[in-house]
Amino acid sequence: MKALILSGGKGTRLRPLTYSGAKQLVPVANKPILWYGIEGIVAAGITDIGIIISPETGEEVKSLTGNGDRFGAKITYILQEQPAGLAHAVKIARPFLGDAPFIMYLGDNLIQRPLNPFLEKFKAEQLDALILLRPVSNPSAFGVAKVDEKGKVLELVEKPKDPPSNLALVGIYFFSPQIHEAIDNIQPSARGELEITDAIQRLIDWETSVESCTLEGWWLDTGKKDDLLEANRIILDTQLVAQNHAEVDDKSQIIGRVQIGAGTKVINSSIRGPVIIGENCYLENCFIGPYSSIADHVKLIEADLEHSVVLHSAQIIGIHQRLVDSVIGRRAQLTVAPRRPKALRFMIGDDSQIELP
Ligand code: G1P
Repeated sequence: MKALILSGGKGTRLRPLTYSGAKQLVPVANKPILWYGIEGIVAAGITDIGIIISPETGEEVKSLTGNGDRFGAKITYILQEQPAGLAHAVKIARPFLGDAPFIMYLGDNLIQRPLNPFLEKFKAEQLDALILLRPVSNPSAFGVAKVDEKGKVLELVEKPKDPPSNLALVGIYFFSPQIHEAIDNIQPSARGELEITDAIQRLIDWETSVESCTLEGWWLDTGKKDDLLEANRIILDTQLVAQNHAEVDDKSQIIGRVQIGAGTKVINSSIRGPVIIGENCYLENCFIGPYSSIADHVKLIEADLEHSVVLHSAQIIGIHQRLVDSVIGRRAQLTVAPRRPKALRFMIGDDSQIELP
C-alpha cells in the first residue's frame, strides 16, 4: 500500500497568505497542515509516500518537509506542471504508484479520527474504491455522493448546482490500481480538469466495488481563514501539551496549557492557554489569550490578542486594542506611527482584509 498526497494548487481562498507560500504549509498550532496528513498516513502503517507538488510552491514544500526521515517515511516528490485536476495528479504519479493500491489524501484536509478502520475495510473487502463522506450544509461546494442504505455509492458529482444529497466527499480516498484504467477513460470537465469524481463514477458504471464510509469526528478543509482559525482552535484544544522552554520573568503569568519554545523570552506578560508560542520569540507587556498560535521569531510588545494565528517573524508592537480572530502573515508588522498615534498608515498586500472599529 502506498500513499499519494496532493500538495499543489494555488490556494486562492487563503490569499494573501498563499501568494508567498503553499496553502498546505500554512501552520495549524505551529505545524504545517500537510504534516498532520503525513503523520496520519504513517500512523496507519503506510510509509511509502508520494507528494504531488506544483512549480510555484514545490521547492518550499520539499525543503520544509524533507525526505520523510522525520516522519519515519520515504517521500518521493512528483511535479505536476499544471493544476490539471486530481485525476491528472494520479495519472502523472503512475510511475511512483505502479500497481500498488493506494490512499489519496488532499493535503489541506485535517481529520480527527485515525485512518486504520477505513484501510482495514478497504483491504478486507478488496474494494476498488472507498470514499469517505460527511453530511454538510453546503454540498454544492464539494464533490457530492448519492449512496444506498448499505453505503454502496450510486452516483458522484463534482460541485453540483443541484446536489443529489448532502453527503460531501472528504478529500481522502482509497483506490485499487483499477482507478488508472478509469482515469484513462475520462475527459476533462467543463472547468478543464480531469476530475477524480468522474473517474470514480466510471468505476461505478463498470459495476466494480465502490463503497463509502461516513467520517465521524471533526473534519476541516482548511481552505479559508475561518476554517484555519477553527482548525487551530480544535488542535490546541485536543492535542496541545504544556511545555515551557522559555525564559519567563517573575512578573509574567502563565495559566492553563501553554507550550513555549526554546530561545523565547517572556517579560511582564500574561498568557492564558491553550496557547502555543514558537522558538526565539520576544514578548513584553503582552496579553495572549486562548486559542492563539504564535510561530517562531515573532516579536510582540504591548500587544493584546486572542483566538489568532501569528506567522513566522511577524511583529505586533504597541497596539492596545485586542486583536481577535486574526491571521497575521509572515514578516507582517503591526505598529503605531510614532509621531501621529491616531493616524493610520498601511502597507497592505493584495487581497488583505483589515477591519477597523
Ligand atoms: C476537492 C474535491 C472535492 C472534495 C474536496 C474535499 O475539492 O474535488 O470533491 O469534496 O476536495 O476537500 P477542492 O477543495 O479542491 O475544490
